Amino acid sequence: MIDMMHGQLLLLGLAAAGVLGSSLATLPRQDVTASGGGSPPLNFSDAAPLQPTTWNGKKYGCKCYLGQACWPSANDWKKLNATVGGNLLVDIPPGAPCHNTFQGPLGTVNTYSAAGCADVQANFANETWTVEKPAAELWTYWTNETCRPTVDPSAPCTLGYYPVYVILAKTKEHIKAGIDFARQKGVRMIVRNTGHDFIGRSTGWGSLVINTHSFQDVTWTKTYTGPGSYTGTAVKIGAGVQGRSILTQGHARNPPVVVVTGECPTVGIAGGFIQGGGHGPWTTLKGFSADNVLSFEVITASGQFTIANEAQNPDLFWALKGGGPASFAVILSVTMKTFPDVKSAGAILYINSTLTNDTNLWWSGMTSFHKYSNHFVDNGLYAYFEVLPQTLRVRPWVAIGKTAAQLKTILQPFLSELDTEKVPYEFAIKDFNTFYDLYIDMFEDEAAGGSALTGGWMFNHDDVANRNDQIINAMKTVLAPAPDVFGFMIGHLFNPGYGVPVANSATNPGWRNATDFLITTIIVEDGASLARKAYLQNTLTYKMDDALRNASRSGTTYVNEADPFQPNWQSHFWGSAYPQLKKTRSKWDPLGIFYAVSTPGTEDWQVIQDGTKLCKAL
Ligand SMILES: Cc1cc2nc3c(=O)[nH]c(=O)nc-3n(C[C@H](O)[C@H](O)[C@H](O)COP(=O)(O)OP(=O)(O)OC[C@H]3O[C@@H](n4cnc5c(N)ncnc54)[C@H](O)[C@@H]3O)c2cc1C
Ligand SMILES: *[C@@H]1O[C@H](CO)[C@@H](O)[C@H](O)[C@H]1NC(C)=O
Ligand SMILES: *[C@@H]1O[C@H](CO)[C@@H](O)[C@H](O)[C@H]1NC(C)=O
Ligand SMILES: *[C@@H]1O[C@H](CO)[C@@H](O)[C@H](O)[C@H]1NC(C)=O
Ligand SMILES: *[C@@H]1O[C@H](CO)[C@@H](O)[C@H](O)[C@H]1NC(C)=O
Ligand SMILES: *[C@@H]1O[C@H](CO)[C@@H](O)[C@H](O)[C@H]1NC(C)=O
Ligand SMILES: *[C@@H]1O[C@H](CO)[C@@H](O)[C@H](O)[C@H]1NC(C)=O
Ligand SMILES: *[C@@H]1O[C@H](CO)[C@@H](O)[C@H](O)[C@H]1NC(C)=O
Ligand SMILES: *[C@@H]1O[C@H](CO)[C@@H](O)[C@H](O)[C@H]1NC(C)=O
Repeated sequence: MIDMMHGQLLLLGLAAAGVLGSSLATLPRQDVTASGGGSPPLNFSDAAPLQPTTWNGKKYGCKCYLGQACWPSANDWKKLNATVGGNLLVDIPPGAPCHNTFQGPLGTVNTYSAAGCADVQANFANETWTVEKPAAELWTYWTNETCRPTVDPSAPCTLGYYPVYVILAKTKEHIKAGIDFARQKGVRMIVRNTGHDFIGRSTGWGSLVINTHSFQDVTWTKTYTGPGSYTGTAVKIGAGVQGRSILTQGHARNPPVVVVTGECPTVGIAGGFIQGGGHGPWTTLKGFSADNVLSFEVITASGQFTIANEAQNPDLFWALKGGGPASFAVILSVTMKTFPDVKSAGAILYINSTLTNDTNLWWSGMTSFHKYSNHFVDNGLYAYFEVLPQTLRVRPWVAIGKTAAQLKTILQPFLSELDTEKVPYEFAIKDFNTFYDLYIDMFEDEAAGGSALTGGWMFNHDDVANRNDQIINAMKTVLAPAPDVFGFMIGHLFNPGYGVPVANSATNPGWRNATDFLITTIIVEDGASLARKAYLQNTLTYKMDDALRNASRSGTTYVNEADPFQPNWQSHFWGSAYPQLKKTRSKWDPLGIFYAVSTPGTEDWQVIQDGTKLCKAL
């Protein structure tokens, strides 16, 4: 793990070195155009109608798909390809080189290659490799698993829920061409940045994907000159830039600066991450990533380039900050506050079967850890941890601006309780010159290529203070929800309300008292039938996550890392912000040119026919 990270760092370091020379200016004046708060004209008169469809006795209007008369002609695609500078591809799933053929929607193509297959086998779990593919998803469940790597080349490889075409966009005009084409032809359009989405929102059956990963421009400034009172340091980040890359570039500045990114090195910043809110190691001190946005450059569903900030289109500005991915506009860049990097301390703790096989003892350790979670965040800490049966892996606690001695003092009451209970643990603690050094040393790359369902729930201060035992019981349900289902959890201790008590973003106000945000996961076995998948989804929604919800009164979860099929997703994702978000959606994207499951205003939309056609109920 660590070796792999260092290899990638070297590359990122070199890339950063190339960028630095050209990145010293103040931000372009386009962020401060004097035109005031006017909206661009939102003209949808050229949009194609939906296609009438009946399914299970219900009437729908659907996007246009291959095989229908509405589908663009070969010549239309050729014209689009010319408009996007030859960057239109027919999508071939990443596993195809291990299969003799890809039985694609446009015909069957030979795909097998021994070298290509060896590359796929070696890298299917490699996040960076997966991010670089035109339309691959890191978590593959929502691709429908119809073209996994295999040692049997005669195994079929079909489209699954992948797109038909991909635009590898190099300029903002390419992105606009994709949006305009999709709107005018009625084709389903999806933006794909890094493919980190847990719930498949960057892919979709029969669609046109616009890949924004080439948007790597970064511009730093010491004095932000845009609208509003903020005049401090800032950075303008292109849509395709990833977390570790921006932190590496910030580290090379003099003095070094940081941006509120995710804990994950490879997750994007300006895509789905920030539109969901975006939490990371700095969140307890500085709030969500979205709380730190100063301005966006975007393209609207009607194809207009525009700016969203405090002065221009403030409704859009607010909604893009946590109001849900793929809902309001396509983001070209985001301008964010930066902060001085400072000395930091980190700690890790393991309690697992290497140390004890006593289940009760292990659960008492887990119970103590969780009981102290309010104490940790109330001292300004962040923590990332994983929970599997008989395994607690806290890696790491992050104490920004603190020494290891100070961190040890904060953790001591908890460690003493473990000692008293005779719970065995391994513990390590370390000082770092900067947060960046900690980030590189202590956070690990995660694996790609796994097939899993994702849920999740947040516990706030009141939950931990008054219902910790119920939370622990609910965790027991999550780990063993049914005899034939295995679950695990990824936890994050942070409180955006510690540093930013009142939301300036569209995130759920309930977050401002957060303590623990838990992701729940079910690994889905290869070849699961539709019936098995429905059973597992039901187990996630009504056993695992329901147990967590019942143990809590927070009413809050995270749109990017939760079950989109939970009841009351509107209030769980956005709380009192939801009605305004729904209104804002109906202004900026009234026809549903954009779509992601369970985002504002999508109540009537549904993917029908076993995960294929995107349609609006009529
Ligand atoms: C390994 C891993 C670690 C993670 N760690 C964190 C974490 O630390 N903190 C956290 O908050 N979340 C984390 N996440 C969740 C993350 O927030 C979501 O996966 C998020 O959707 C990723 O956004 P993306 O743009 O990188 O990914 P993508 O999968 O490419 O896109 C996600 C969604 O955003 C839309 N989108 C992408 N780009 C744009 C754009 N330019 N304009 C408009 N819409 C766009 C897509 O259409 C899609 O709906 C993690 C996920 C994974 C898999
Ligand atoms: C909207 O755009 C169409 C062309 O796509 C144009 O004919 C029409 O005049 C425009 N309407 C307005 C109000 O600008
Ligand atoms: C788009 O044009 C490029 C360059 O001419 C070509 O290589 C590519 O195959 C074309 N894409 C499609 C889908 O035809
Ligand atoms: C992961 O993939 C990237 C990009 O293809 C590659 O540079 C890197 O070496 C791979 N990592 C490993 C451990 O193979
Ligand atoms: C998706 O997978 C299921 C099996 O779980 C299969 O029945 C269905 O045909 C697949 N659909 C597509 C479009 O690949
Ligand atoms: C289990 O604990 C040991 C130390 O006791 C540690 O080395 C190992 O990495 C841990 N395993 C997991 C999966 O956390
Ligand atoms: C726990 O059980 C596993 C598997 O039997 C064994 O490898 C491990 O050594 C045991 N741990 C302890 C602390 O006895
Ligand atoms: C946070 O929790 C405390 C204690 O449970 C409560 O008094 C306070 O009102 C809560 N704040 C918010 C913003 O919900
Ligand atoms: C949660 O509580 C509801 C209402 O009391 C109950 O019907 C449901 O079974 C509970 N869910 C779980 C998983 O215990």
